[in-house]
Amino acid sequence: MADKKVTLTLDGEAPVELDVLQGTLGQDVVDVRSLGSQGLFTFDPGFTSTASCESKITYIDGDEGILLHRGYPIDQLATHSNYLEVCYILLNGEAPTPEQFEEFRITVTRHTMIHEQITRLFHGFRRDSHPMAVMCGVTGALAAFYHDSMDVNIERHREIAAFRLLSKMPTMAAMCYKYSIGQPFVYPRNDLSYAGNFLHMMFATPCEEYKVNPVLERAMDRILILHADHEQNASTSTVRTAGSSGANPFACIAAGIASLWGPAHGGANEACLRMLEEISHKEHIPEFVRRAKDKNDSFRLMGFGHRVYKNYDPRATVMRDTCHEVLNELGMKDDLLEVAMELEHIALNDPYFIERKLYPNVDFYSGIILKAMGIPSSMFTVIFAMARTVGWIAHWKEMHDEGMKIARPRQLYTGYAQREFESQLQK
Ligand code: CMC
Repeated sequence: MADKKVTLTLDGEAPVELDVLQGTLGQDVVDVRSLGSQGLFTFDPGFTSTASCESKITYIDGDEGILLHRGYPIDQLATHSNYLEVCYILLNGEAPTPEQFEEFRITVTRHTMIHEQITRLFHGFRRDSHPMAVMCGVTGALAAFYHDSMDVNIERHREIAAFRLLSKMPTMAAMCYKYSIGQPFVYPRNDLSYAGNFLHMMFATPCEEYKVNPVLERAMDRILILHADHEQNASTSTVRTAGSSGANPFACIAAGIASLWGPAHGGANEACLRMLEEISHKEHIPEFVRRAKDKNDSFRLMGFGHRVYKNYDPRATVMRDTCHEVLNELGMKDDLLEVAMELEHIALNDPYFIERKLYPNVDFYSGIILKAMGIPSSMFTVIFAMARTVGWIAHWKEMHDEGMKIARPRQLYTGYAQREFESQLQK
């Protein structure tokens, strides 16, 4: 029994008492599950006030700008951990011992190759396809290759699928890039780190040796950590919804990739870099800020604002520092970084952005780092998808481990009432 209750009183009817649930952290949650059987639904388009599930993986305090994975703050993970350790933590709930980590690392590393026939699948796509379109298709197609372990009711099958996805995502992501530029695919290398192997598959060619720059490897690892999970965002909720019907894990992750692609979500990093390029010079900033504030103009400052954060996105702070590190290492002075910093300064001092609590989010600086590394903007969201795969899998596994109901929201129907059908075609 919950200690707190909410009483709902409907005109002329007996009051309904609802339990108020309390998590470890965060807002109280009114348990409305009994309302449906009483002939009432709640209405919350966009889920602005709805907890869609119970979860132990990630916690966000949007007012304070706090992000915790299994209780560990994101800045500590970004500074003192590595992506694969964060993956272990997200999937298993605890930080690994050295032995546990080594076993995990070896398992991920030894399954990075994809079925050779999948390479032929790539050739069915146009060379100028957006890499996210290819990622969506190829990830979904994995179900056609790995159907030996797709019984979602068997825990071991779920585990095997999790490793397969985590291991093969960088290989497929790099293949999307290589295919788009007409270069041969580069096979994974088991002696490299997760991030180092990805950079190698992106940039190595058969003609000359490619040595992974340790600063860029660390920066890529950090980008992966910062994108690893973010509780019940659009793509994660999509994965949970797809998975709730018992769909196979590859189909669920492909659904997550599709949802991530949108410019309001993962597609924002690509859109943000395009916006900075369009602004191109500090003197053009006021015009773009004016447009962002104009209700009659659909333009928004990309990389700004967040449904949950009403404070600086803690991931953006780490991303900004990493951006400086990478540009210093490469000896580059990027005019876009100057534009970004000035835009941030102007927006953070503008009453429109202050009143609406709009701050830079994770996507604001990531594009500048990726561009400096030589990665084209069309690959930005693919890298986000690669990093977020572990979060999607962690939520998908949690949902299965704890038992689930098929996701089936109801609606407020505002269409026609019943009416007689009379065909117009026979007249
Ligand atoms: N530029 C200008 N105005 C904005 C922006 C923006 N980027 N974001 C929100 N607003 C305004 C919006 O017009 C509204 O104003 P008003 O109250 O006068 O109508 C108010 O702020 C609240 O906006 P909202 O659209 O109701 O907020 P939301 O929670 O539904 O949307 C968001 C959140 C992230 C979709 C939105 O802030 C946005 O479109 N940002 C730009 C895209 C972006 O950077 N997305 C990446 C999010 S972080 C990475 C990820 O998790 O995927």
